[in-house]
Amino acid sequence: MNASASISKLATTIAQIRAETIAARRAGVKIGLVPTMGALHEGHLSLVRASKAECGLTVVSIFVNPTQFGPNEDFSKYPRTLDNDLKLLAACGAEVAFAPEASEMYRSDRSTTVDVGEVAEPLEGEFRPGHFRGVATVVLKLFNIVQPDVAFFGQKDFQQVQVVRRMVADLNVSVDVRACPIVREPDGLAMSSRNRYLSPAARRRALVLSRSLKRADELVRQGQCDAAVILAEMRAVIETAEDARIDYIALVDPETFRPAETIAGPTLAALAVKIENTRLIDNCLLSPRAPIL
Ligand code: PAF
Repeated sequence: MNASASISKLATTIAQIRAETIAARRAGVKIGLVPTMGALHEGHLSLVRASKAECGLTVVSIFVNPTQFGPNEDFSKYPRTLDNDLKLLAACGAEVAFAPEASEMYRSDRSTTVDVGEVAEPLEGEFRPGHFRGVATVVLKLFNIVQPDVAFFGQKDFQQVQVVRRMVADLNVSVDVRACPIVREPDGLAMSSRNRYLSPAARRRALVLSRSLKRADELVRQGQCDAAVILAEMRAVIETAEDARIDYIALVDPETFRPAETIAGPTLAALAVKIENTRLIDNCLLSPRAPIL
Protein backbone atom coordinates (compact mmCIF):
# COMPACT_ATOMS: atom_id res chain seq x y z
CA MET A 1 0.00 0.00 0.00
CA ASN A 2 1.38 3.33 -0.97
CA ALA A 3 0.34 6.73 0.37
CA SER A 4 1.78 10.16 -0.33
CA ALA A 5 0.61 13.71 -0.84
CA SER A 6 0.98 13.51 -4.62
CA ILE A 7 -1.05 10.35 -5.29
CA SER A 8 -4.09 8.65 -3.79
CA LYS A 9 -3.58 5.43 -1.83
CA LEU A 10 -3.18 2.57 -4.24
CA ALA A 11 -4.54 -0.89 -3.43
CA THR A 12 -3.78 -3.62 -5.94
CA THR A 13 -5.10 -6.64 -4.05
CA ILE A 14 -8.55 -7.49 -2.74
CA ALA A 15 -7.08 -7.90 0.76
CA GLN A 16 -5.64 -4.37 0.66
CA ILE A 17 -8.85 -2.68 -0.51
CA ARG A 18 -10.89 -4.68 1.99
CA ALA A 19 -8.62 -3.54 4.83
CA GLU A 20 -9.35 0.08 3.82
CA THR A 21 -13.09 -0.32 3.50
CA ILE A 22 -13.56 -2.48 6.60
CA ALA A 23 -11.76 0.15 8.70
CA ALA A 24 -13.91 2.91 7.20
CA ARG A 25 -17.14 0.98 7.74
CA ARG A 26 -16.22 0.29 11.38
CA ALA A 27 -15.63 4.02 11.84
CA GLY A 28 -19.13 4.70 10.44
CA VAL A 29 -17.78 6.33 7.28
CA LYS A 30 -20.03 6.25 4.19
CA ILE A 31 -18.24 4.61 1.26
CA GLY A 32 -18.61 5.72 -2.37
CA LEU A 33 -17.36 3.64 -5.30
CA VAL A 34 -16.57 5.03 -8.73
CA PRO A 35 -15.96 2.07 -11.06
CA THR A 36 -13.73 2.98 -14.04
CA MET A 37 -11.43 1.44 -16.59
CA GLY A 38 -8.90 4.25 -16.10
CA ALA A 39 -7.69 6.71 -18.76
CA LEU A 40 -9.53 9.17 -16.57
CA HIS A 41 -11.01 12.40 -17.87
CA GLU A 42 -13.28 15.14 -16.56
CA GLY A 43 -16.32 12.84 -16.89
CA HIS A 44 -14.80 10.40 -14.37
CA LEU A 45 -13.65 13.23 -12.13
CA SER A 46 -17.23 14.57 -11.98
CA LEU A 47 -18.22 11.18 -10.53
CA VAL A 48 -15.41 11.40 -7.98
CA ARG A 49 -16.63 14.87 -6.96
CA ALA A 50 -20.21 13.59 -6.64
CA SER A 51 -18.95 10.79 -4.40
CA LYS A 52 -16.82 13.18 -2.32
CA ALA A 53 -19.86 15.41 -1.79
CA GLU A 54 -21.77 12.51 -0.29
CA CYS A 55 -19.27 10.01 1.12
CA GLY A 56 -16.40 10.10 3.60
CA LEU A 57 -14.34 7.54 1.66
CA THR A 58 -14.22 7.50 -2.13
CA VAL A 59 -12.78 4.40 -3.78
CA VAL A 60 -12.07 4.59 -7.51
CA SER A 61 -11.54 1.25 -9.20
CA ILE A 62 -9.31 1.23 -12.25
CA PHE A 63 -9.59 -2.06 -14.09
CA VAL A 64 -9.71 -2.67 -17.84
CA ASN A 65 -12.13 -5.54 -17.56
CA PRO A 66 -11.28 -8.16 -20.20
CA THR A 67 -14.65 -9.94 -19.99
CA GLN A 68 -16.63 -6.99 -21.34
CA PHE A 69 -14.63 -6.73 -24.59
CA GLY A 70 -15.50 -8.80 -27.65
CA PRO A 71 -12.77 -10.70 -29.55
CA ASN A 72 -12.47 -7.96 -32.21
CA GLU A 73 -12.69 -5.01 -29.83
CA ASP A 74 -10.03 -2.70 -28.43
CA PHE A 75 -9.07 -4.50 -25.19
CA SER A 76 -5.35 -4.68 -25.98
CA LYS A 77 -5.09 -1.08 -27.20
CA TYR A 78 -7.41 0.42 -24.53
CA PRO A 79 -5.42 3.29 -22.97
CA ARG A 80 -3.71 2.41 -19.68
CA THR A 81 -2.46 5.53 -17.91
CA LEU A 82 -2.27 4.55 -14.24
CA ASP A 83 0.35 7.10 -13.11
CA ASN A 84 -1.57 9.99 -14.58
CA ASP A 85 -4.88 8.60 -13.27
CA LEU A 86 -3.48 8.51 -9.74
CA LYS A 87 -2.33 12.13 -10.03
CA LEU A 88 -5.79 13.23 -11.23
CA LEU A 89 -7.45 11.30 -8.41
CA ALA A 90 -5.19 12.82 -5.78
CA ALA A 91 -5.89 16.32 -7.13
CA CYS A 92 -9.60 15.54 -6.87
CA GLY A 93 -9.28 14.19 -3.33
CA ALA A 94 -10.21 10.55 -3.98
CA GLU A 95 -8.87 8.64 -1.00
CA VAL A 96 -8.18 5.21 -2.51
CA ALA A 97 -7.60 3.75 -5.96
CA PHE A 98 -8.14 0.04 -6.46
CA ALA A 99 -6.18 -1.14 -9.50
CA PRO A 100 -5.98 -4.94 -9.51
CA GLU A 101 -4.43 -7.21 -12.14
CA ALA A 102 -6.85 -9.45 -14.04
CA SER A 103 -5.45 -12.47 -12.16
CA GLU A 104 -6.48 -10.82 -8.86
CA MET A 105 -10.03 -10.21 -10.11
CA TYR A 106 -10.69 -13.46 -11.93
CA ARG A 107 -10.00 -17.01 -10.76
CA SER A 108 -8.72 -19.13 -13.63
CA ASP A 109 -11.46 -21.72 -12.92
CA ARG A 110 -14.34 -19.21 -12.63
CA SER A 111 -17.72 -20.27 -13.96
CA THR A 112 -20.29 -17.77 -12.61
CA THR A 113 -21.53 -14.82 -14.64
CA VAL A 114 -24.40 -12.35 -14.32
CA ASP A 115 -27.00 -12.10 -17.11
CA VAL A 116 -29.40 -9.24 -16.61
CA GLY A 117 -31.99 -10.04 -19.30
CA GLU A 118 -34.19 -7.79 -21.43
CA VAL A 119 -32.65 -4.41 -20.67
CA ALA A 120 -29.22 -5.74 -21.70
CA GLU A 121 -30.36 -7.18 -25.03
CA PRO A 122 -30.95 -4.32 -27.53
CA LEU A 123 -28.58 -1.53 -28.68
CA GLU A 124 -25.18 -2.12 -27.03
CA GLY A 125 -26.27 -5.66 -26.18
CA GLU A 126 -27.02 -6.40 -29.82
CA PHE A 127 -23.85 -4.88 -31.25
CA ARG A 128 -21.54 -6.04 -28.45
CA PRO A 129 -22.69 -9.58 -27.61
CA GLY A 130 -21.62 -10.57 -24.10
CA HIS A 131 -20.62 -7.00 -23.20
CA PHE A 132 -23.21 -6.50 -20.48
CA ARG A 133 -22.58 -9.97 -19.04
CA GLY A 134 -18.96 -8.85 -18.53
CA VAL A 135 -20.03 -5.47 -17.12
CA ALA A 136 -22.66 -6.86 -14.73
CA THR A 137 -20.29 -9.58 -13.53
CA VAL A 138 -17.38 -7.24 -12.82
CA VAL A 139 -19.61 -4.57 -11.25
CA LEU A 140 -21.15 -7.14 -8.91
CA LYS A 141 -17.66 -8.37 -8.01
CA LEU A 142 -16.56 -4.78 -7.31
CA PHE A 143 -19.66 -4.24 -5.18
CA ASN A 144 -18.86 -7.41 -3.21
CA ILE A 145 -15.20 -6.49 -2.79
CA VAL A 146 -15.66 -2.83 -1.82
CA GLN A 147 -19.19 -3.05 -0.34
CA PRO A 148 -19.90 0.63 -1.05
CA ASP A 149 -22.96 2.43 0.23
CA VAL A 150 -23.26 4.34 -3.05
CA ALA A 151 -21.86 3.73 -6.55
CA PHE A 152 -21.51 6.45 -9.18
CA PHE A 153 -21.86 5.92 -12.93
CA GLY A 154 -21.92 8.29 -15.90
CA GLN A 155 -25.06 8.69 -17.97
CA LYS A 156 -23.02 8.50 -21.16
CA ASP A 157 -23.34 4.75 -20.67
CA PHE A 158 -27.08 5.11 -20.08
CA GLN A 159 -27.88 1.48 -20.85
CA GLN A 160 -25.07 0.32 -18.56
CA VAL A 161 -26.63 2.30 -15.70
CA GLN A 162 -30.00 0.62 -16.31
CA VAL A 163 -28.32 -2.80 -16.48
CA VAL A 164 -26.62 -2.15 -13.12
CA ARG A 165 -29.85 -0.85 -11.58
CA ARG A 166 -31.75 -3.95 -12.78
CA MET A 167 -29.06 -6.24 -11.36
CA VAL A 168 -29.07 -4.41 -8.02
CA ALA A 169 -32.87 -4.63 -7.78
CA ASP A 170 -33.12 -8.26 -8.89
CA LEU A 171 -30.25 -9.56 -6.72
CA ASN A 172 -31.04 -7.43 -3.62
CA VAL A 173 -27.65 -5.75 -3.70
CA SER A 174 -27.47 -3.15 -0.98
CA VAL A 175 -25.91 -0.30 -2.99
CA ASP A 176 -27.50 2.99 -4.08
CA VAL A 177 -26.77 3.57 -7.76
CA ARG A 178 -26.35 7.21 -8.79
CA ALA A 179 -26.25 8.33 -12.43
CA CYS A 180 -24.38 11.57 -13.10
CA PRO A 181 -24.81 13.83 -16.16
CA ILE A 182 -22.71 13.44 -19.31
CA VAL A 183 -19.72 15.78 -19.34
CA ARG A 184 -19.08 17.32 -22.76
CA GLU A 185 -16.20 19.17 -24.38
CA PRO A 186 -17.05 22.84 -25.09
CA ASP A 187 -17.95 21.89 -28.69
CA GLY A 188 -20.41 19.19 -27.55
CA LEU A 189 -18.36 15.97 -27.92
CA ALA A 190 -19.19 13.67 -25.00
CA MET A 191 -16.03 12.94 -23.00
CA SER A 192 -14.75 9.40 -23.46
CA SER A 193 -11.47 7.60 -22.93
CA ARG A 194 -11.79 6.48 -26.56
CA ASN A 195 -11.78 10.07 -27.91
CA ARG A 196 -7.99 9.94 -27.73
CA TYR A 197 -8.00 7.42 -30.61
CA LEU A 198 -9.40 10.10 -32.96
CA SER A 199 -7.16 12.06 -35.34
CA PRO A 200 -7.84 15.85 -35.24
CA ALA A 201 -9.93 15.61 -38.44
CA ALA A 202 -11.93 12.63 -37.16
CA ARG A 203 -12.41 14.45 -33.85
CA ARG A 204 -14.15 17.22 -35.82
CA ARG A 205 -16.31 14.73 -37.73
CA ALA A 206 -17.26 13.07 -34.42
CA LEU A 207 -19.28 16.17 -33.58
CA VAL A 208 -22.07 14.72 -35.75
CA LEU A 209 -23.10 12.57 -32.77
CA SER A 210 -23.93 15.45 -30.43
CA ARG A 211 -25.33 17.51 -33.35
CA SER A 212 -27.71 14.72 -34.25
CA LEU A 213 -28.94 14.50 -30.63
CA LYS A 214 -29.35 18.27 -30.58
CA ARG A 215 -31.43 18.08 -33.77
CA ALA A 216 -33.67 15.42 -32.16
CA ASP A 217 -34.11 17.62 -29.11
CA GLU A 218 -34.99 20.66 -31.29
CA LEU A 219 -37.59 18.65 -33.23
CA VAL A 220 -39.23 17.36 -30.06
CA ARG A 221 -39.28 20.87 -28.60
CA GLN A 222 -40.98 22.06 -31.80
CA GLY A 223 -43.71 19.48 -31.19
CA GLN A 224 -42.54 16.68 -33.51
CA CYS A 225 -43.49 13.36 -31.95
CA ASP A 226 -43.17 10.90 -34.84
CA ALA A 227 -40.13 8.74 -34.07
CA ALA A 228 -39.60 7.83 -37.73
CA VAL A 229 -39.30 11.52 -38.69
CA ILE A 230 -36.86 12.24 -35.87
CA LEU A 231 -34.73 9.17 -36.62
CA ALA A 232 -34.51 10.13 -40.30
CA GLU A 233 -33.29 13.63 -39.38
CA MET A 234 -30.77 12.22 -36.90
CA ARG A 235 -29.43 9.85 -39.57
CA ALA A 236 -29.12 12.72 -42.07
CA VAL A 237 -26.94 14.66 -39.58
CA ILE A 238 -24.72 11.61 -38.91
CA GLU A 239 -24.31 10.98 -42.63
CA THR A 240 -22.76 14.41 -43.13
CA ALA A 241 -19.55 12.77 -41.82
CA GLU A 242 -18.41 10.85 -44.89
CA ASP A 243 -16.82 7.91 -43.04
CA ALA A 244 -19.51 7.51 -40.34
CA ARG A 245 -20.62 3.89 -39.91
CA ILE A 246 -23.80 3.66 -37.89
CA ASP A 247 -24.32 0.73 -35.51
CA TYR A 248 -27.62 2.14 -34.30
CA ILE A 249 -29.65 5.32 -33.97
CA ALA A 250 -32.55 4.64 -31.63
CA LEU A 251 -35.43 6.22 -29.78
CA VAL A 252 -36.40 3.98 -26.88
CA ASP A 253 -38.20 3.89 -23.56
CA PRO A 254 -35.46 4.79 -21.03
CA GLU A 255 -36.56 2.07 -18.60
CA THR A 256 -37.28 -0.91 -20.85
CA PHE A 257 -35.26 0.05 -23.94
CA ARG A 258 -38.21 -0.93 -26.13
CA PRO A 259 -38.42 1.19 -29.32
CA ALA A 260 -40.62 4.28 -29.16
CA GLU A 261 -42.91 4.95 -32.12
CA THR A 262 -44.13 8.29 -30.84
CA ILE A 263 -42.57 10.62 -28.32
CA ALA A 264 -45.35 10.53 -25.75
CA GLY A 265 -43.21 10.62 -22.58
CA PRO A 266 -39.50 10.76 -21.67
CA THR A 267 -37.63 9.00 -24.48
CA LEU A 268 -33.96 8.12 -24.80
CA ALA A 269 -32.23 9.07 -28.04
CA ALA A 270 -29.14 6.87 -28.27
CA LEU A 271 -26.50 6.30 -30.90
CA ALA A 272 -23.41 4.29 -31.62
CA VAL A 273 -21.33 5.35 -34.60
CA LYS A 274 -17.85 4.47 -35.82
CA ILE A 275 -15.76 7.37 -37.01
CA GLU A 276 -12.37 6.39 -38.44
CA ASN A 277 -12.73 2.96 -36.76
CA THR A 278 -13.36 4.45 -33.31
CA ARG A 279 -16.73 3.42 -31.93
CA LEU A 280 -18.41 6.30 -30.11
CA ILE A 281 -21.68 6.33 -28.20
CA ASP A 282 -23.82 9.22 -27.00
CA ASN A 283 -27.37 9.81 -25.84
CA CYS A 284 -29.83 12.33 -24.49
CA LEU A 285 -33.23 12.23 -22.87
CA LEU A 286 -36.01 13.83 -24.88
CA SER A 287 -39.11 15.20 -23.17
CA PRO A 288 -42.20 15.94 -25.23
CA ARG A 289 -43.59 19.45 -25.09
CA ALA A 290 -46.24 19.80 -22.37
CA PRO A 291 -49.69 19.81 -24.00
CA ILE A 292 -51.20 23.28 -24.41
CA LEU A 293 -54.42 23.36 -22.40
O1 PAF B 1 -18.04 2.19 -17.65
C1 PAF B 1 -16.97 1.58 -17.47
O2 PAF B 1 -15.88 2.16 -17.46
C2 PAF B 1 -17.01 0.08 -17.26
O3 PAF B 1 -17.99 -0.52 -18.03
C3 PAF B 1 -17.15 -0.33 -15.77
C4 PAF B 1 -18.48 0.13 -15.19
C5 PAF B 1 -16.00 0.27 -14.98
C6 PAF B 1 -17.09 -1.85 -15.64
O4 PAF B 1 -15.88 -2.35 -16.12
